[in-house]
Amino acid sequence: MTVAKRTWWKDGVVYQIYPASYKDSNGDGMGDIPGIISKLDYIKDLGIDIVWLSPMYDSPQHDMGYDISNYEAVYPPYGTVADMEILVESCHSRGMRLILDLVVNHTSDEHEWFKESRSSKDNPKRDWYIWRPAKYSTDGTRMPPNNWRSFFSGSAWEWDENTQEYYLHLFATQQPDLNWENEETRRAIHKSAMEFWLQKGVDGFRVDTVNMYSKGTEMPDAPIIDPGVFEQPAPGLFCNGPRMHEFLREMNTEVLSKYDTMTVGELPHTPDPKHVLRYVGSGDKQLDMVFQFDIVDLGGGKTHKYEYEGYQLSEMKAVVEKWQNFHHGSDGWTTAFCENHDQGRSVSRFANDAPEWRERSAKMLAMMLCATTGTLFVYQGQEIGMINAPKDWPIEDYKDIESINYYNSVAKRTNNDPKALAHVMKSIQILGRDHARLPMQWDSTPYAGFTSKKDGAWMRTHDLYKKINVESQVNDPTSVLSFWKKMLKVRKEYKDIFIHGVFEGFDMDKQDTFVFKKIFGKDSAIVALNFTDKEQVFNRPHVEGKLQLLVSNVEGIEGTEEKLMPYEGRIYLAQ
Ligand code: GLC
Ligand code: CA
Repeated sequence: MTVAKRTWWKDGVVYQIYPASYKDSNGDGMGDIPGIISKLDYIKDLGIDIVWLSPMYDSPQHDMGYDISNYEAVYPPYGTVADMEILVESCHSRGMRLILDLVVNHTSDEHEWFKESRSSKDNPKRDWYIWRPAKYSTDGTRMPPNNWRSFFSGSAWEWDENTQEYYLHLFATQQPDLNWENEETRRAIHKSAMEFWLQKGVDGFRVDTVNMYSKGTEMPDAPIIDPGVFEQPAPGLFCNGPRMHEFLREMNTEVLSKYDTMTVGELPHTPDPKHVLRYVGSGDKQLDMVFQFDIVDLGGGKTHKYEYEGYQLSEMKAVVEKWQNFHHGSDGWTTAFCENHDQGRSVSRFANDAPEWRERSAKMLAMMLCATTGTLFVYQGQEIGMINAPKDWPIEDYKDIESINYYNSVAKRTNNDPKALAHVMKSIQILGRDHARLPMQWDSTPYAGFTSKKDGAWMRTHDLYKKINVESQVNDPTSVLSFWKKMLKVRKEYKDIFIHGVFEGFDMDKQDTFVFKKIFGKDSAIVALNFTDKEQVFNRPHVEGKLQLLVSNVEGIEGTEEKLMPYEGRIYLAQ
C-alpha cells in the first residue's frame, strides 16, 4: 500500500471568498480587494490556513467573473493588481496562503485572444478557439455542428455572422471555449493565467471545470434524454476527453512543478472513483485533489438541475461514504465541503433553516464536515450559518445567469405555464447559485454592514441579516461562529482521526441519523448526528474501551445516552 505524504494543503482549512459579496470598502455597492484585506484578521481568527479567492480578473461579468477578458488585470471595481500584491503579502504575513481561481476552459468573448480569433478565418489565433462550419437539415435550415446543450440553457454553439462559422461555448455565449488541442494556446494559458500570478506569490489554484479542456475532435451528437427539445445535455461527451491527463501532466511539468502549490480541480460528471484516482494519485502529477459534486448534486433533476426531485438521507450518507473511502489503499486525496458559490446554503438544503433549528443544525453540519477526511473547504458565511434567500423573493431578485436563463427557457417552452414556473421557482429556492452570492452579513446596520452605499449592494441583502451576522456572534460563545472555531480546533487537535482517518458508517440505510466512526491506528472517534427535528434513538456502535464525549452542539439541555435530540450532534473519543 502506498502511504500518502502529509502536506500543508492536506491539513489546511480553506476559506472561499466571492469578491463581489464579501466586503465593500468604498461604498460603491460591490465587494472589493481592500474590503477582503480588512477582514483577514477575522478569517485568521476563525482558524483558516488558506484563502481561495473566486475570480477577481477583468471581466464583463456575464458569469460573475468566470468570463475573463484579461488574466493579467483585475476587474476595476474590485481593485488593482497592486491591491492583489498587498493581498498576497497580507495573507502570507498572517501565516495564511492564497489560491486563485484558474478559469481556462474558456475566456470571455471580450478577451483579446477571442477578438482576434473571430476577426477572420485566417487570423493566426483562429484555431485558439473551437470553430466549426454549420450543418444543414434536409430542408436547408442552418443547424449547429451538434446537439450539445450549454450549461446555461440553449445550444452550446453560437453562430458568428462575420466569419460564417459556429464557435463552441459550454457555458454562456459570452464564454467561448479555448482550443486546448493547440499547443501555442496552452503555452499562452500557462504564461498569462498561471505564471503571471505564481510569480506574484500566489500559492496555487482552484481549477475551474478542469475535466473539460479535452473534448476530442469528433464531437458527436449527445443521446436524446429530453425529447421535447433539440439541445441535449452532453457532459458525458465533453468531460474527461482523450487528452485530459496529458494536458494536466504538461501543466505540472511546465508550470506548477516550479512552485510549492496546491491545486484543487472541479471534477463534475466523473462518478467512478478509479477514474478520479487517475487525476489525484500523487505518483502521476496532475491535481492534488478534486471536488466531487455528488453531495451538492443531491436532489437535482435528471434532465435539468432545476427540476428538483429531493433526496433521502441514506443517499447523502452513501455519497459521503463513497468519497471517504475512495482513496483507501492509494495515495490519492479528497476534499470535504458542502457549499460553494454555485450552491444553495447547506443549512437550507441539508438541515433546517427554520428559526428554532437554524443554529443547532448549522452546528451539526459543521461537526459532520470537521470530522471527515480530506481538505476542508468553508464558504464565506457558512461559518455564521447563513441561509437561503426567503421564499417570497421574486425571480427579479435573482441575478445569476444560470437560474434566469433556465427560468426564461421554461417560460418560453411552456408559454408561461404557472405550474411549470412554480416548480422551477421551487427548485431555484433550494439550489439556486444566487443564495451563496448574497452580501456577507457583517452586522445589523443597513445592508448588513456589507456596504455603505445608500441604495444598497449589487444584490439584495438577506431579510434576516439582523438575526444572522458576524457582529452578534463573534463574542457569543454559544454562536454558530464560535462553534465553527471550536470545531476547527478539534479537527486539528485530533487530525490523525479527523483529517486522515478511515471512515466506517453504521446503519447506513437509516433515514434520520448519521452515525459513523473515524479510525486511525488504535485511536477512534464516534460521530452521531440527528438529521431530523424529532428525537431519535442512538444505537451506539461497539468500540473497545470507554467513550468520552468530546463535542456536542446542544447547550443547556441534557441529552441522554440513548437518544439524540432534534439536530443534535455528538462526537465521542474512544479511549
Ligand atoms: C464553474 C464555476 C461556475 C461557473 C462555471 C463556468 O462551474 O464554479 O461559477 O459558472 O464554472 O466558468
Ligand atoms: Ca467596492
